[in-house]
Amino acid sequence: MAKARTAYVCSECGADFSKWQGQCGACGAWDTLSEIVLESAVAAKSPASRRSGWAGKVDPPKVTALKDVQQGGDVRVSTGIGEFDRVLGGGLVEGAVVLVGGDPGIGKSTLLLQAVAAMASNLPGLYVTGEESLAQVAGRASRLGLPLEGLNALAETGIERILEQASQLRPRIIVADSVQTLWTDSLTAAPGSVSQVRESAARLVRYAKETGTAVFLVGHVTKEGGIAGPRVLEHMVDAVLYFEGDSGSRFRVLRAFKNRFGAVNELGVFAMGDRGLREVPNPSAIFLSGGSTRQPGSCVMVTREGTRPLLVEVQALVDASPLSNPRRVAVGLEGNRLAMLLAVLHRHGGIVTGDQDVFVNVVGGIRVQETAADLPVLLAVLSSLRDTPLPDKTIAFGEVGLSGEIRPVPNGEERLKEAATHGFKRAIVPKANAPKAGSYKGMEIVAAERLADALEQA
Ligand code: TYD
Ligand code: MG
Repeated sequence: MAKARTAYVCSECGADFSKWQGQCGACGAWDTLSEIVLESAVAAKSPASRRSGWAGKVDPPKVTALKDVQQGGDVRVSTGIGEFDRVLGGGLVEGAVVLVGGDPGIGKSTLLLQAVAAMASNLPGLYVTGEESLAQVAGRASRLGLPLEGLNALAETGIERILEQASQLRPRIIVADSVQTLWTDSLTAAPGSVSQVRESAARLVRYAKETGTAVFLVGHVTKEGGIAGPRVLEHMVDAVLYFEGDSGSRFRVLRAFKNRFGAVNELGVFAMGDRGLREVPNPSAIFLSGGSTRQPGSCVMVTREGTRPLLVEVQALVDASPLSNPRRVAVGLEGNRLAMLLAVLHRHGGIVTGDQDVFVNVVGGIRVQETAADLPVLLAVLSSLRDTPLPDKTIAFGEVGLSGEIRPVPNGEERLKEAATHGFKRAIVPKANAPKAGSYKGMEIVAAERLADALEQA
């Protein structure tokens, strides 16, 4: 019997190697290579099967002038959930493969069931479940009061049988919940292994591209934050959406991590209730802690995730540390950035936090990746250190440079507008983002050029 062809794939970056090695040569991560079977001994015998590689069917190869290619034209379909459409880049594109990742229990199955049910009257759907029984899926659908016209369900994990059913039923949308349960006959590896997940997903991707069927893949996220097993899935699909949220909070955020059809980092906000996920069309309101009294250590910032400005509250607690190496903890922000900002605060603001524990938290379980959060974080830290609240109805945004300068951020006016809409009266912003008039829609604008100016104004 011919030997199966295998390769070693890094679970961090997805790079392939023909031999095992302790460190990934592409991304430098240690001990992340695992063996995958490329083709079973049986499949390897037929030269035809070898030719149809990852990129799908290319038989026979034919070169076409790009200008002559008939354009697919983005046919977008609304999922019936506005916030979901927003994250997808304005609706679902036909033939798109979308990976939806998130922690177990966050609401992936609920969201996708709601979305396929809402679309099913126009686009017949097939909900493939490998984790729940059909009775559980049906029970959930009826509890949520979903329209079930045009929606079929299949409890199956073998990819050959799923595709066989799909080619008979010809659904326009397939949900595979979850991709980690899928397996193919052509590999001998255990279901759930990297090679099974990768090959099964590749089959679905190929099917989607050949038939123009939209496919949603559900993936669980590991502790480290990647889609469990193969990061490679992220390369194969058109869009990767992560579902995030605090386990204690009912709010959920869907974030576009990669999207071939829309803006990355676009956020959709949902609330989980007893009737499933409901969209939150005005999310700024929920990320403010809600208390009308001014508290020390709190600052409201305007962050811009994707294409929309959001008002988000950042809180800091600065407290004398009993440790020789005081703690710096950032929740919802990057830890290294916090350490860097504290160094700038010391060097250019003359404020010492070296003997203090510093905790910073973004309210509402949202993650802020933008540098516009720099200035608000430092204002919150200062406010906590001094035990003095910031002036009432104040917002801030701005990047802080290593030499203590406040640098402008994109879309300043749009951010100011969002703040004014929500009744804020004062904004501390980078000089280059400040309107010349010194005020904006009744809001007083404090233009800061250096960190020291901003701290003084606050
Ligand atoms: P689920 O969609 O099964 O999560 P995932 O597929 O990501 O694992 O959601 C499960 C959680 O959502 C569960 O803890 C219960 C909660 N939930 C509600 O609060 N209300 C509802 O209407 C539904 C359907 C689920
Ligand atoms: Mg689920």
